[in-house]
Amino acid sequence: MPDSSRPIRTAAVIPAAGRGVRLGPGAPKALRALGGTPMLVHAVRAMAASRAVSLVVVVAPPDGAPEVRSLLDEHPLGGRTELVVVPGGETRQDSVRRGLAVLPDDTDVVLVHDAARPLVPVDTVDAVIAAVRAGAPAVVPALPLADTVKQVEPRSPGEPEPVTGTPERALLRAVQTPQGFDRETLLKAHETVAVEGEGATDDAGLVERLGAPVVVVPGHEEAFKVTRPLDLVLAEAVLARRRATDGYV
Ligand code: C5P
Repeated sequence: MPDSSRPIRTAAVIPAAGRGVRLGPGAPKALRALGGTPMLVHAVRAMAASRAVSLVVVVAPPDGAPEVRSLLDEHPLGGRTELVVVPGGETRQDSVRRGLAVLPDDTDVVLVHDAARPLVPVDTVDAVIAAVRAGAPAVVPALPLADTVKQVEPRSPGEPEPVTGTPERALLRAVQTPQGFDRETLLKAHETVAVEGEGATDDAGLVERLGAPVVVVPGHEEAFKVTRPLDLVLAEAVLARRRATDGYV
């Protein structure tokens, strides 16, 4: 934790290097337009909206960092938030690691936020930061589930899958981003926890494997992840309502 003689410094890392194949063919997901503005620009603005965030690191597709940099330059933040773009890696975990590598040493609190959650409200961002500042090494915003969840034995697409269990719904939460961390804890998790296959789908999961405590704060329904085509329809509707009611750009 920081020494008390200087202000706490908070940075946000936005992994945006995924292809977003579930959304259908087209540009990388983060670069798709939402209300005429790339999803990534909304996500960057959502982080910069918090007065606590002084640096945003965007992790671009491995071969697309210069394009992402010029795209972001076309949509300047116009505030005191610094913006850095670095190339990403093969997996989300790789991409986050590359973003963490460029954080200045005096960073105390790190947010990791999916570019695919462009509409997270600033109150949710601030609640996550506040919980880390209050002493939690890892904080995730999350919501209770509407659906009952089944555990299955995965089979090929189209083949019926045997159910192996039904976790008690009241004990489950659907987690969102930004997830917030004490920087030292997150760096240690990324350096020491090895994950097979596609890597960790969530940074708090790495911290859990480290044995450090992770806590949940209330998430927000507008922090949903844009994954499938229908999510784009919902995101456009949320954006249109915000523009009509509170002058959101
Ligand atoms: O694929 P999924 O929706 O879980 O990706 C979550 C976030 O991680 C997205 O913002 C995506 O751009 C990012 N990602 C990345 N590098 C990868 C894969 C995904 O930055 N290699």
